[in-house]
Amino acid sequence: MPQKQLKILGIIGDPVSQSLSPLMHNAAMAHTGLPFIYMPFQVKPEELDVFFKSLAPRKIFGFNVTIPHKQAVIPYLDSLSREARLIGAVNTVMRKGKKLIGYNTDGAGFIRSLKKEEKYELANKHVLLLGAGGAARAIAVALGLEGAREVMIFNRTAKKAFDLSFELGKKFRKTVFNASPLDPPDPSHWRLADLVINATSIGMKEFQNIQLPLSQLPSKALVVDIVYRPLETPLLKKAKKRGLSIHPGWGMLLHQGMLSFELWTGKKAPYEVMKKALLEALR
Ligand SMILES: NC(=O)c1ccc[n+]([C@@H]2O[C@H](COP(=O)([O-])OP(=O)(O)OC[C@H]3O[C@@H](n4cnc5c(N)ncnc54)[C@H](OP(=O)(O)O)[C@@H]3O)[C@@H](O)[C@H]2O)c1
Repeated sequence: MPQKQLKILGIIGDPVSQSLSPLMHNAAMAHTGLPFIYMPFQVKPEELDVFFKSLAPRKIFGFNVTIPHKQAVIPYLDSLSREARLIGAVNTVMRKGKKLIGYNTDGAGFIRSLKKEEKYELANKHVLLLGAGGAARAIAVALGLEGAREVMIFNRTAKKAFDLSFELGKKFRKTVFNASPLDPPDPSHWRLADLVINATSIGMKEFQNIQLPLSQLPSKALVVDIVYRPLETPLLKKAKKRGLSIHPGWGMLLHQGMLSFELWTGKKAPYEVMKKALLEALR
């Protein structure tokens, strides 16, 4: 019997060795028996051109894109999905014939995680979004696509929050986008919030310095941290102590990967298998 030739999938980034995607995708491939192997590709910014001119178009079936290439890959692609165009960044590339198509599954992964693990719907919700970097941008676009009522963006560099809210305000009619500096956070918005999302890279130390008015939140509010290491971040610990519902960052990571898997293979991603591989690695 001739052996099936394995198709190559992967992730490009710099650094890339810390990525949990190979683990999650190879577990899924082993489980489904699909003929793919997923590999990390360390690509420095100055090597991106060579990567696209040599390897990507001919040898690789599809790949994820991580920091620092999510925007830099765009000029090398033949077309973009609606989400990738709105977000202005790509985390998944798929080869279709000779063409490379860019997608962004980060925002949709975030939404799918809230729906699947929390049974949470975003339509008409008041959302406080902390951060205005790449991940926050993907989430803000996804919130607009889901029809959230208001998204208040808080950021250390306030101008970035104002620029993002102004840009998205023009793109989404149903959702109102507003902005505010992160420190000090204006408590008046917190009393109305349904959902708080930390999409900054703030860790333990910084959250001790910024006094988030968690006590102002309604008791029904859900607090999400997209930072997935540690599994229960300082923000989630504090929110839990106040009796609020919490949702950890592994969910977004899992579902953005599942959506990439589904784009490449055309098959449903094995949720339990990918979740187990991810959580084992994170624990
Ligand atoms: N769960 C997932 O699937 C997933 C996916 C993507 C990212 N993430 C995580 O999300 C975090 C953000 O990623 P990113 O790609 O958006 O990074 P990024 O583009 O570099 O943005 C970083 C954000 O954090 C803010 N920030 C950084 N240090 C801060 C500090 N000391 N005080 C206040 N604000 C600070 C930045 O504010 P300024 O604009 O003022 O610099 C900016 O808003 C990372 O921890 C990443 O691991 C998780």
